[in-house]
Amino acid sequence: MSEQAVSILATHPWVDTAWWDQGKRAILVRPSASAVAVRPVPGPLLIEHLEHWRHVYEYVYSTTEGRHGDDLDLSGWRASDTGKPFSRDHMIEWVQHAVGLVLRDKPRVVLELGCGSGLLAHRVHRSTRAYVGIDVAEPAVERLRAQALPGVRVLQGAAHELTSASVTSALREATGDDTAAPDCVVLNSVTQCFPNEQYLTAVLDDALDLVAAGGTVVVGDIRNLANASSFARWLETARYPDSTEPQLTARIADRLAADEELLCDPRLFARIAARHHRDIRTTCYAKPFHDDTELTRYRYDIVYTVDRPAPEPARTIEWSTLSGYRLRAVDLTREPTLITGIPNALLDPHAPDAVRPAELAAAVPPSWAVLLDSADGRLLAAGPPEHYHDRDAVRGNDSTAGCNNPNTTFVQRRLPEILTDYLERELPTAATPLIAVAQEPTVP
Ligand SMILES: C[S@@+](CC[C@H](N)C(=O)[O-])C[C@H]1O[C@@H](n2cnc3c(N)ncnc32)[C@H](O)[C@@H]1O
Repeated sequence: MSEQAVSILATHPWVDTAWWDQGKRAILVRPSASAVAVRPVPGPLLIEHLEHWRHVYEYVYSTTEGRHGDDLDLSGWRASDTGKPFSRDHMIEWVQHAVGLVLRDKPRVVLELGCGSGLLAHRVHRSTRAYVGIDVAEPAVERLRAQALPGVRVLQGAAHELTSASVTSALREATGDDTAAPDCVVLNSVTQCFPNEQYLTAVLDDALDLVAAGGTVVVGDIRNLANASSFARWLETARYPDSTEPQLTARIADRLAADEELLCDPRLFARIAARHHRDIRTTCYAKPFHDDTELTRYRYDIVYTVDRPAPEPARTIEWSTLSGYRLRAVDLTREPTLITGIPNALLDPHAPDAVRPAELAAAVPPSWAVLLDSADGRLLAAGPPEHYHDRDAVRGNDSTAGCNNPNTTFVQRRLPEILTDYLERELPTAATPLIAVAQEPTVP
């Protein structure tokens, strides 16, 4: 029976190879490359993964939990450490920060991928000529569309469809211009739902191709791969404060292995920009919020500025070389200045002269921003963001992982379910054997 089952599974279009593993007493399978491909078109197992997130968010938006009004639907926004909703004030600060990044360069046409309930759309559309939002979750799209905000078009679709005919025609309708390209493409708090680095890169490549010269691509609220262990420790300590160190170590490992979301190293974004054919500046922002939450500590934003003349280089001053009342010691009006190497007190509280991001934001001139050192997530920088260019990330060690790979974990769970159903249909009279996705690099 196993032999027959193996040969049936080997002909399934999503399977590359299948074999019986005596030790595991299971049929092991390896998915075919086309089933997990991102390009030229997403393979069926990648689509399954996108569908998984669609179902998650359709459920989230079908509840009314967290809905404070049309323009403030905070459904799903719960803290991982307490399990409770984030405070309204914290979320308003979070939204305003994202809106600030989008509107900073006064875009006229905004395209948002994964627009959700419209937290950004409600605040951005008044300052723009046209706004087009797309999202995979139907209830979010329907609700936002029904609100009929002036200049706003909303359609159901996934981020990788940003160059599709329906998005192009929505941009045309919204602007009344056949050739209108967005001068800002936004992906705020959506990359965590992407299946893998290849999908993220494909979407960003298309966004960077599409955006008008001088425009920006804003990738907001990204989960940081570089300090994922620190996040897991913080979280498990908050949830199980009485754990011993070995218990904590085991919980951290379990949490990291079970994470279903995409986490990205900040340096990846400069590498993507460096490979692109356009001239792109990459700026990495920290989250300068007042509340100490996972959003403030472990997330960051990237703003790409495309085909815009580079500003004059800024002088760089190391935080540790400043003395006395630090920022007052520098003449900040004399020439563009970046202050670097500022320890983030939330992540490295014992470092000398560490500061909280919110304290730093309050102390710097209004045109400045609190930035993140992409090579060390515990270090902040401050300065006019147009003078920050993450060149060091490209020069750095290119072998660092860009992202974790949630699609592999997803396929390990989902493919056996699909193949078990398939075998039950093809061999209805036999007992279905255990099926697992092979993790070994070679077929025995
Ligand atoms: C955390 S919400 C963020 C919503 C909005 N961008 C904001 O900042 O409020 C994530 C949204 O991304 C959508 N989403 C998930 N995967 C997507 C994909 N591949 N393409 C487009 N939208 C996606 C979800 O349906 C959800 O509405």
